[in-house]
Amino acid sequence: MTFHAVVPAAGLGKRMGSDFPKQYLSLNGRMVIDWSIQALLNQPGIETVTVALGREDDLWPTTKSIADPRVTSVAGGAERCHSVLNALQDLLGRAAEDDWVLVHDAARPCVSRQDLSRLMELAQEGTGGLLGVPVHDTMKRTDETGSIIATVDRDCLWHAQTPQMFPLNVLRKALADALVAGVTVTDEASAMEWAGYQPRMVEGSASNIKITRPADLELAGFYLAG
Ligand code: C5P
Repeated sequence: MTFHAVVPAAGLGKRMGSDFPKQYLSLNGRMVIDWSIQALLNQPGIETVTVALGREDDLWPTTKSIADPRVTSVAGGAERCHSVLNALQDLLGRAAEDDWVLVHDAARPCVSRQDLSRLMELAQEGTGGLLGVPVHDTMKRTDETGSIIATVDRDCLWHAQTPQMFPLNVLRKALADALVAGVTVTDEASAMEWAGYQPRMVEGSASNIKITRPADLELAGFYLAG
């Protein structure tokens, strides 16, 4: 069984209020993206990492990851799904169609070895799966004015995280077909669901946060130090 990783890193991360993309912010002495890529490279079984970069990205050459021979970069696209698709297409030239690929956000630096191992073991029992955590809060739906119109049943409701792991060519085809059909694809699992598959939800950890707002950086620093 061969595993590869794809890291979409072509986003600007405007909600961070920083002058440069959030994946290049410094976190406990390393860049966020270096933590994310290192977690994947340290995982036994993962052979390569393909990173999708923004077209005017001049910070990638300043990372530690660029020096690792297992890491390749490709141009990203307008949205996350386009970035992932570009990386998968590039990877297909170097990997087997049925190799497994783990797609992991550049901005998720705290993913643990235990969670990666569990995902790699359980998701390959079917056509793939993803890490997630169950919803514990009471969920409300509002109208545009902010008035509550419903309480949503939280049973069987999950927060989807990454990595999301699927067979390389099955995922590439699902993403490409969904984009041609004009379907909104916010993660790999949604493309697979649209294509008729039922990805497996693998319970991960709440510490696998995505850096989105400034406070997330502090929290990530706390988790990585622990
Ligand atoms: O913006 P958001 O936090 O949802 O982005 C998730 C991941 O997707 C980030 O790692 C970001 O760099 C990446 N991305 C991308 N190409 C885009 C937009 C986002 O690779 N066009």
